[in-house]
Amino acid sequence: MPGSLRDAVERAAAVLERAGCDTPRLDAEVLVAEATGLARERVHLDPGTEVARGREFRLGEHIRRRIDREPVAYILGRRAFRRIELSVDPRVLIPRPETELLVEVALELHPGAWVHDVGTGSGAVALAIAHERPDLRVTGSDVASAAVEVAQKNAERLGLPVEMTATAGLPVEAAGADLVVANLPYVTDAEWDTLAPEITGFEPREALVSGADGLDAIRELVASAPSGARLALEHAPGQAAAVRRLLDGGATRRDLAGFERVTVGRVP
Ligand SMILES: C[S@@+](CC[C@H](N)C(=O)[O-])C[C@H]1O[C@@H](n2cnc3c(N)ncnc32)[C@H](O)[C@@H]1O
Repeated sequence: MPGSLRDAVERAAAVLERAGCDTPRLDAEVLVAEATGLARERVHLDPGTEVARGREFRLGEHIRRRIDREPVAYILGRRAFRRIELSVDPRVLIPRPETELLVEVALELHPGAWVHDVGTGSGAVALAIAHERPDLRVTGSDVASAAVEVAQKNAERLGLPVEMTATAGLPVEAAGADLVVANLPYVTDAEWDTLAPEITGFEPREALVSGADGLDAIRELVASAPSGARLALEHAPGQAAAVRRLLDGGATRRDLAGFERVTVGRVP
């Protein structure tokens, strides 16, 4: 049914709200803008603009996917993270804003230092660091070779010289890094079923869940790193004390929402 941008957003927001989406109006604006090829501001600046007939099919398809609770980032195939945009698909976790804290820790490194990102996923952390600090040597790795493919493609598309390898824990070749950053899975087995359908229906379980207390992958990383290696580990707020106990001199930093989110320390 042809109509204005305003009509398209209002219809889409109403069906997304009925489908249980948390942010129906925002999602509707983003999906209408994408399907019509217009900037999102146009929805507010020129709400009377007619949606071209050929664009309606694409919009309908996007709204159907969102009604099924597919995350907007997978529908669009991209997600912004700090100052870069990453291609994302269900082979990798959608980067979260709280993970920017890991990038901030790396930005404190001395010129020319080497930082390695374990569990790189889409490459978000490694690539954001390389983008903001071209003087650093940045490498990354992930246990999932499918994730490494996505990260490598993102590095090529962004023109960032970051080498990625498929390995569990810290690759032996990266043992000499000045800092290892890692947003590894930290959800507990029991928590998985309580998460939103956008997560359980679409994001890779193995990128999020890590055993009875959620710390299996973090323990594996600590065990694979040489004594004295400096690690910055993202975790859930309730895991901060346990992560501090795994490291020498572990100190925890809070994210923008005030939650204990990243612990920095050395491997005993
Ligand atoms: C929570 S996702 C984070 C992805 C990315 N760093 C980000 O912040 O968007 C965790 C990633 O760690 C990887 N992973 C899980 N266990 C691992 C392990 N033992 N060693 C290395 N990578 C692992 C998963 O494949 C997944 O890509």
